[in-house]
Parts: sequence; C-alpha cells; structure tokens
Amino acid sequence: MQKKYLMTPGPTSVPSEVLLAQARPMVHHRTPDFNKVVRDCVEGLKYVFQTEQSDVLIFAASGTGGMESAVVNCFSAGDKVLVSYNGKFGQRMEQIAKVYGLDTTVLEYGWQQVVDPADIAGFLKENPDTKGVIVTQSETSSGVLNDVEAVGRIVKDYPECVLIVDSITGIGAVDCKTDEWGLDVVMTGSQKGLMLPPGLAAVTVSPKAWKAYERSTLPKYYFDWKKYKKNLEQDTTPFTPAVSLMIGLAEAIKLMREEGIENIIARHARLAEACRKGCEALGLELFAPAEGRGNAVTPVWVPEGIDGKKLVSTMKNKHGVTIAGGQDDYAGRIFRVGHLGYFGDFDIIITLAALEMTLFELGYAFEPGTGIKAAEHVLLGK
Ligand SMILES: Cc1ncc(COP(=O)(O)O)c(C=O)c1O
Repeated sequence: MQKKYLMTPGPTSVPSEVLLAQARPMVHHRTPDFNKVVRDCVEGLKYVFQTEQSDVLIFAASGTGGMESAVVNCFSAGDKVLVSYNGKFGQRMEQIAKVYGLDTTVLEYGWQQVVDPADIAGFLKENPDTKGVIVTQSETSSGVLNDVEAVGRIVKDYPECVLIVDSITGIGAVDCKTDEWGLDVVMTGSQKGLMLPPGLAAVTVSPKAWKAYERSTLPKYYFDWKKYKKNLEQDTTPFTPAVSLMIGLAEAIKLMREEGIENIIARHARLAEACRKGCEALGLELFAPAEGRGNAVTPVWVPEGIDGKKLVSTMKNKHGVTIAGGQDDYAGRIFRVGHLGYFGDFDIIITLAALEMTLFELGYAFEPGTGIKAAEHVLLGK
C-alpha cells in the first residue's frame, strides 16, 4: 500500500465532511429539502465571492462552462472585446470569444509577466465602444496573479463595458472583492478553492452584466443566465442539478464560513509563502515574477540537468505525491505545486520532503532538509 497525496492546483483534496455529505442517498431536486440546499449554496457563494449586489448562478459544468456562459450571455457577434492574458487559461477566453464571432483584441504577455492595467486603460481610451474586458485573476499555468482590482477601477468608467474575471483558482485562495472592485462577472469551479470534486461552475452576474445580457443576441440555451435567475427565485434550478455536488457544496460552505474568508485567504498566503521559501532554500528558482505571485499554485523551474517529467513521475510513483507539470512550452521545464482549498501546514512539509527525496534520487546536489527547514520557519512565523 502506498499513501497518496494530491498536491495539484485542481482537482484538489476534498474534506471528509464534504465526501460524506455527498455519499448520502440520492434525493429528488424538486423538494423543499433540496430548495434549502440551493439557497444555502447561493447565499454561501455570495459570501465567498464577497458580493451582495451580484447574482450567483451555479451550473453543472466544469469551469470552462462558466467561462463560455459569460461570453454567450454578455455579448453579440461582432462586439469588441479585449482579452489580456499571460498563460494558457487566459488564452482559452480568447478562443471562446473568437468561436462566438466577437471582434477580439488580445493583449498578450509572457507567462512570467503580469497583465499591465495601464495597457487596458490605453486600449479603452482609444476604443471606448469596447463591450468587454476579460482578465484571469490567478493564472494557474504560470502562477501569476493579475491585479483585477486595478482593472476594475478602469472599466468602471465605461458604462457599457463589462469586466469578466476568471477567478477559477483565485476564489478562496486570494482576495476577490466582487462588489468593491467592480467585477461584473466572476467565475470559479468546484474542484479548486471550494474543496469539491469537479463538476460545478459558479458565476457572479452584476447589475451591469444583466444590462449586457439584455443587449446580447448570441444564441444560448443550457447556459442562458435568465433561466437560472428565474428558477433561483423559487430556490431551484432550470435543469437537473448535480445534486450530490450541491449537497457537498453546502457542506463545504459551512466549513468556509466557520473559518472565515479572510482567514482562508491568510492561510493560503502563508502556505504559498512556505512553499516558495522551501523551494528557494533548495536553490530552485521560482517561475512567477515577485510582483505577481498567487496563493493557489507555486510553479518552479526544474533545475539544470534534471528531467522535469521524471521529477513529477518519481514524486507520484515512488513517493505517492502528485504535483503538476508545466503546460505547453513549459512542459518538462517547470513543475507546479498546488496549495489550494483543503490544505494545511503539513501538506507543504510533505510535498517539500517528497521533492527533496526525489531531487536527491535524481542526482541534484543540495543538503537534504534545507527546504523543509525554511518552510517550517515560515509556518512558525520566524
Ligand atoms: C484559471 C483557470 N481557468 C480555467 C480553467 C478551466 O477550468 P475547467 O478545467 O474546470 O474547465 C482552469 C482549470 O484549471 C483554471 O485554472
């Protein structure tokens, strides 16, 4: 038997309380009991998204479904949108916008750069008829955190332009003040900070985004936001919901409320810092730039002379610790440690211990224990 540890940026570990809630016998979704589950999920997600003004809609879909819903509900073919990205997931937004025939301009940054809000401001000044700005808050492929608060301040001045934020690995890991920052549409997926298995997407819709919805003529059926909003008035959903996941979500939200959103974010910041310091103490180089590092995932350069794919597979096969490799151009060149959702101090220690043992076995020269020691210093507050 080998004990297994899931240390990826999604899917992430699920607490036993949530797993047990999901294992209950199936219930019918058109019942008062399930209406309460829907209500608890929506109210709880409003708390997590830090919004009172926006509606929160829940789909049986992965995060990408939430992204696609934002495009089809806010725009019409030919609408001018600006997509700014610095990684694989931001690029997906460009692909979705183009599939639906939007007039898409891209502000593309390197994966080790942060999106510069001044570039967005400049674009909007020259293109005041822009209908949407799309940004990824926490870019999971690169670990870069983009300043969506600053982008919110810019987009606020354009009454017909909505700000769409992919916070799929942001929510529950970094601060995301939906109302205060003027974020019109924010989305997350269940398999991330919400501590659930994959299968749910949650999307916020501000009053400004509802105005965009009224103008939008793109075809929509399953993801038609109005259907969900109308049904929410009766605490129900237009189609059969992912019943077990919703029951699990209500339980996960209970745990999140108990801890408190500020404390959850502070825990993630502390764990991310411990992971970063541990890796640096091993002589490894962090991938994301110092001015924009998120709390959900730590991408690290594979050191010279080490086979990056072997590093990831040795950690998993020999030590039972699953981390993620790099994507696209960075496959085999970086590895990514997730610390998002149901994570505590010793998850970081275990991951660093497995990393040290793997590096040692692969012939990397360092003093075993130095990474763990540095992480412990952070976790002890020293
Ligand atoms: C930032 C970001 N956006 C979008 C996605 C896509 O979500 P999904 O795989 O649930 O469709 C992910 C998944 O990892 C992500 O991290």
